[in-house]
Amino acid sequence: MTDFGTGVATGKIILMGEHSVVYGKPAIALPFKQAQITSKVFKTDNKITIDSIYFKGLLEDSPDELYGIKQLINIVLIYLKQPFFGIHILIESNLPPQRGLGSSAAVSIAVVRSLFDAFKVELTHDRLNHFVDIAEQIHHLNPSGLDATTITAGQAVFYHKDLGKSVIPLKMDAVIIVADTGKKGLTKEAVTEVRKLWNDNPTVVNPIMDRLEQLTNDVKIYLENNEVLRLGLAMTEAHQLLRSIHVSDDLLESLVSVALNKGALGAKLTGGGKGGCMIALCKNESQAIIIADALKDAGAIDTWLYNLKEIVT
Ligand code: MEV
Repeated sequence: MTDFGTGVATGKIILMGEHSVVYGKPAIALPFKQAQITSKVFKTDNKITIDSIYFKGLLEDSPDELYGIKQLINIVLIYLKQPFFGIHILIESNLPPQRGLGSSAAVSIAVVRSLFDAFKVELTHDRLNHFVDIAEQIHHLNPSGLDATTITAGQAVFYHKDLGKSVIPLKMDAVIIVADTGKKGLTKEAVTEVRKLWNDNPTVVNPIMDRLEQLTNDVKIYLENNEVLRLGLAMTEAHQLLRSIHVSDDLLESLVSVALNKGALGAKLTGGGKGGCMIALCKNESQAIIIADALKDAGAIDTWLYNLKEIVT
């Protein structure tokens, strides 16, 4: 089989504003270029088949985890005026799934890009966002759109679900460690539980969301002005606020403590929480390598380094 369409998408890291973004507050997220998903489309003479980490076989027999993708492929093929037949889709990934790194949005984006590439139809940003939104609504019920926006933008974004995004140039002298707890993050459950907490205790939760909003607005300025120490303090405070709405867990807590004890300038969970990943801010790469090793000793199954200064080529 030769492929006739390819689509690639990176993951994303939320620097500030997870959960509060759902309540109309701003968030800042970065594309996670160290890991990506590739979707390849092949021509066949059979019903549609798929090969992914979740499932290999006829798309019509795929499990619930792939329901959003199944619907997405259906809708995209209708848009492209193609039959629901005669293709095989291979999804390859080095982006760990369900870790708050945006893998579900990334799979959708890679698949849509590969189908448009296969049928040689131009894909606009708006069209891509429209299709990915459909799959994300199925996956996450009512997502803020932050993941899809960051991944399609491919740049650091300051995002508001009603006001849209602006791009933030990255020019900070610092390195972030992304550490994977190895535990699947439960974004949908976390978002649902925070919603319940907010409904039951608005007078407690609203000020927390307001403070997260303030910190996110401050962090935009810190990024613009290369204020690394203030960024670190804001990240750690955001983590404490997220813990107070119960989206942290024991391993995230212990990795955040280890990072701070080893000299990280700030540390927090990233993404939906309840498992998934944490991030730690370091002053340079050599400090980041030492702290990343300590995080692995403390239970992280993988770590990546992320330079906050964009290398202009
Ligand atoms: C998920 O990556 C981030 C959350 O804020 C949910 C959302 O934005 O839809 C927890």
